[in-house]
Amino acid sequence: MIIKNASVLGQEGVLERKHIVVLDGVISKILDAAEALDEAGEIIEAEGKLLIPGLIDMHVHLREPGFEHKETIETGARSAAKGGFTTIACMPNTRPVTDSAEIVQLVKDKAREAGLVKVLPYAAITKNELGLELTDFAALKEAGAIGFTDDGVGVQSAQMMKDAMKLAAGLDMPVIAHCEDNSLVEGCAVAEGTFADKHGLKGIPNESEAIHVGRDILLSEATGVHYHVCHVSTEQSVRLIRQAKQIGIKVTAEVCPHHLLLSEEDIPGMDANWKMNPPLRSRRDVEACIEGLLDGTLDIIVTDHAPHSAEEKAKGMQLAPFGIVGFETAFPLLYTAFVATGKWDLSLLVQRMTADPARVFRLNTGSLAVGAPADLTLIDLNEEKEVDPATFASKGRNTPFGGWKLKGWPVKTWVDGRAVWSEV
Ligand code: DOR
Ligand code: ZN
Ligand code: ZN
Repeated sequence: MIIKNASVLGQEGVLERKHIVVLDGVISKILDAAEALDEAGEIIEAEGKLLIPGLIDMHVHLREPGFEHKETIETGARSAAKGGFTTIACMPNTRPVTDSAEIVQLVKDKAREAGLVKVLPYAAITKNELGLELTDFAALKEAGAIGFTDDGVGVQSAQMMKDAMKLAAGLDMPVIAHCEDNSLVEGCAVAEGTFADKHGLKGIPNESEAIHVGRDILLSEATGVHYHVCHVSTEQSVRLIRQAKQIGIKVTAEVCPHHLLLSEEDIPGMDANWKMNPPLRSRRDVEACIEGLLDGTLDIIVTDHAPHSAEEKAKGMQLAPFGIVGFETAFPLLYTAFVATGKWDLSLLVQRMTADPARVFRLNTGSLAVGAPADLTLIDLNEEKEVDPATFASKGRNTPFGGWKLKGWPVKTWVDGRAVWSEV
């Protein structure tokens, strides 16, 4: 296959016109568009479109097994492909929880049957994510888990977290943490701030996240484990991670598009499509997250794709489950808000969604180079389109971004040289 006349990001972040030749699922040649082309194969004309390494999303919920009414591995993987993602890492808060080798294997089998994007399973830190008993880390690693996390809930006991980190360090595996102190958030649906005040709600305080970040940084220092912080949303967490990196502690972190784009002041009313955990925080927190992403304190962008059914979300702000979908809006949202406005370089956005997650989690993908797997995404930077949740490939339609006019839509996605989504 030859992708002709694509715009690709060059060394200095400038766009260059190239022909990309793919052979046996691998990028075999990158030719200057001016060079003579004597290769045979399927030709894809990409004139005027951006070709980037396939996007990587290291934090997603695919809901299978157990919650197939919200999403399945197949529908989630298709939604990911449509959003331009070629590798995704799925969270273990399924039913049963992914806390045994058997469920890790089941996730891998379902992903292979779906035959769409690369699906990397996380396994739980504690059995049933109850925080009471560690899982069998060695067996889970052996089965193919790529890290340990109780995402959905925080590990409440510091001793339990320390034991987990010691074990993970010994196996050269990362610990990935949903940071939340339960004693500070009981009964809360939104963050402290103007929205909570206006509606007479008790708000989630910033410390509920940052207390765990601070605790776990100290435990990471003590155990030497690679500690990765989930969905950073507060100024205080960014500050703690920045300081920890400065003194050489092995900590990395992620941030979601919604925490870079929305504050609690933007919540229009008691609509559960604006309910996620961590919640939308203050404008000041949003600014701190953006600054953290720009200076590398926050290493990567993830969606925390969290599909729920319309019925579940209709229960209202207080009772509905936390979470919003993310695959099919992530890149266009960030491109439109930050790149098209001239605030960020395109190369920064692409790096935080490709090369950086590959570096942090040591994945063999995420670069557009000869010899790399042909995990590729083609993007139309010009056509403006409205977000229409009814057209999502995901079963979930729970997004606060419906109706937003965006540019930067993925139009074709390849995994190991095979087209898994195409609109052209
Ligand atoms: O918003 C969220 N949704 N946050 C979480 O921590 C869990 C996730 C889910 O599983 O729905
Ligand atoms: Zn979480
Ligand atoms: Zn999550």
